[in-house]
Amino acid sequence: MLDDYLSWKPFFEVVPIEIADCAEISELHGQRFPRRWSDGEFQNLLLQHSVFGFVARQTNAFFSRPLGGFVLSREAAGEAEILTVAVNEKFGRQGLGWRLMQAALREAAARGGESMFLEVEAENRAAVQLYRKLGFEKVGERPAYYTGPGGTRSTALVMSRVLR
Ligand SMILES: CC(C)(COP(=O)(O)OP(=O)(O)OC[C@H]1O[C@@H](n2cnc3c(N)ncnc32)[C@H](O)[C@@H]1OP(=O)(O)O)[C@@H](O)C(=O)NCCC(=O)NCCS
Repeated sequence: MLDDYLSWKPFFEVVPIEIADCAEISELHGQRFPRRWSDGEFQNLLLQHSVFGFVARQTNAFFSRPLGGFVLSREAAGEAEILTVAVNEKFGRQGLGWRLMQAALREAAARGGESMFLEVEAENRAAVQLYRKLGFEKVGERPAYYTGPGGTRSTALVMSRVLR
């Protein structure tokens, strides 16, 4: 019993996003990106038939089901894209980013997607490594694409992979 307690670690399930998740997703988005997307922006995106996503929710917390992360994606006419993905820093490097991205890749393929692309800041080492590990390759570069705090500009990489 004591051993169980000492070795306690969080477990997560990855399930489809629901409208009711949007407020929490928006809060996590604000923690991980310089410009937070509002609850309403997430709701509007999810109301589009082409848009889908997943959340990772902790299954073994005592009183609630904390949000570990989320991914939002879109598929239209065979082409899918990642709109945004984020993991709570507290649960980082535990495989949640990988699991969320795998769920998005599978769903995009099930919807008829043939390829998936995404944009990522070139200096975002964690994300670039994750995408490479998932089989994405750089297909383009957009210099001075993002504007950071203080007006600093940074390069976006465009990455892509086939879904079949
Ligand atoms: C990018 C992000 C989603 C990764 O989520 P995560 O749950 O920590 O990632 P995982 O634990 O699934 O890691 C999978 C792989 O990604 C890479 N990776 C993740 N974090 C990394 C880090 N800090 N440094 C280097 N590589 C990293 C590794 O290849 C890792 O595999 P490994 O642990 O076997 O080495 C997370 O860091 C995040 O939310 N960042 C802020 C938001 C963001 O940048 N989103 C992407 C915008 S395009």
